[in-house]
Amino acid sequence: MRAAALHSYKPLNHENNAPHSFGNMKALSSAVLVVLLSISLVSSHDQIDFHHFLRCLPAHSHRSFPIAEAILVPSNSSFQSIYQLRANNLRILSSATSRPVAIITALHPSHAQATVICAKRHGLQVRIRSGGHDYEGLSYTSSVPFVIMDMFNLNSIDIDMRTKTAWIQAGATTGELYYRIAEKRKVHGFPSGVCTTLGIGGHLSGVGYGVLMRKYGLSIDHIIDAQLVDADGRIHNRRSMGEDVFWAIRGGGITSFGVILAWRVKLVRVPPKVTVFTVQRTLDQGATELAYRWQQVAPKLPKNLFVRL
Ligand SMILES: Cc1cc2nc3c(=O)[nH]c(=O)nc-3n(C[C@H](O)[C@H](O)[C@H](O)COP(=O)(O)OP(=O)(O)OC[C@H]3O[C@@H](n4cnc5c(N)ncnc54)[C@H](O)[C@@H]3O)c2cc1C
Ligand SMILES: *[C@@H]1O[C@H](CO)[C@@H](O)[C@H](O)[C@H]1NC(C)=O
Repeated sequence: MRAAALHSYKPLNHENNAPHSFGNMKALSSAVLVVLLSISLVSSHDQIDFHHFLRCLPAHSHRSFPIAEAILVPSNSSFQSIYQLRANNLRILSSATSRPVAIITALHPSHAQATVICAKRHGLQVRIRSGGHDYEGLSYTSSVPFVIMDMFNLNSIDIDMRTKTAWIQAGATTGELYYRIAEKRKVHGFPSGVCTTLGIGGHLSGVGYGVLMRKYGLSIDHIIDAQLVDADGRIHNRRSMGEDVFWAIRGGGITSFGVILAWRVKLVRVPPKVTVFTVQRTLDQGATELAYRWQQVAPKLPKNLFVRL
């Protein structure tokens, strides 16, 4: 039913833009009437579903962590600012893309479970957002009615120096991770992206490459465990999800498989001091020759040296 309603909504919207070329006011007015009728049908249907969705959430959340504090609807004063804060592609933000019907700013793992269960039950799509750096804005836009599950509150970083491992919640950023590791020990690090505001949730499900790439490979090479909410709202670790799913979520784009609550990673050794410098060359100063030379020498350099062009 929803699919049909949405389907009729789109072409009518398009017709609504076109009628000037018809020059037939009667056709225009009946087209507009149909548009209005279909919009009101769609929205009342959505409102009922949405109402049921909101009512469903507390029943599936941990009682000691009321989910009401995590629910933002457009009438909440902070809705718009929270939406925009991690909608990093301004081209998508400024265009007339549809907004979510709600943002669930999960404060507890059970809030993620409840969102999955209730959204599925009441016909809403879930878009999961950690750092909001998706190039196409897939974590905060959709063409169907949707809720955003925003992970930024789940951002703890738990480092165990005995095992040289860390549990990192999805909402933590790469910069926070680097900082927390350096705080503990200057001779450890983690191979991830250059940008320091990437969300660990999305970043580690993609690949994760950066300045330690030559020496240590990719972020996903160093993941040893994960906490994943599946489509039925159950929480899994590596053992209960099985090796096939664990393999798939490291590089396959996580949203097809579930919601990542946290990743467990192995830290790597780094020298306490590194030297970093930038050389700038214009084309007139021989930048083309430099790029050519770089391609020849880069693969042969010692692994402790990283040159980026
Ligand atoms: C300015 C910039 C610099 C970048 N630099 C680098 C770099 O140096 N190295 C590199 O490897 N990559 C880099 N990237 C790419 C970046 O790693 C990816 O865009 C990554 O997906 C961003 O993750 P996020 O959590 O910030 O984004 P989000 O937009 O929050 O999420 C990205 C995707 O993952 C999904 N997702 C997010 N969180 C979860 C979760 N908890 N569970 C399930 N699904 C989830 C989203 O729905 C979306 O589809 C860069 C991107 C930008 C915009
Ligand atoms: C948003 O507003 C609703 C009432 O419309 C309220 O119940 C809820 O607690 C508010 N959310 C937050 C996070 O303040």
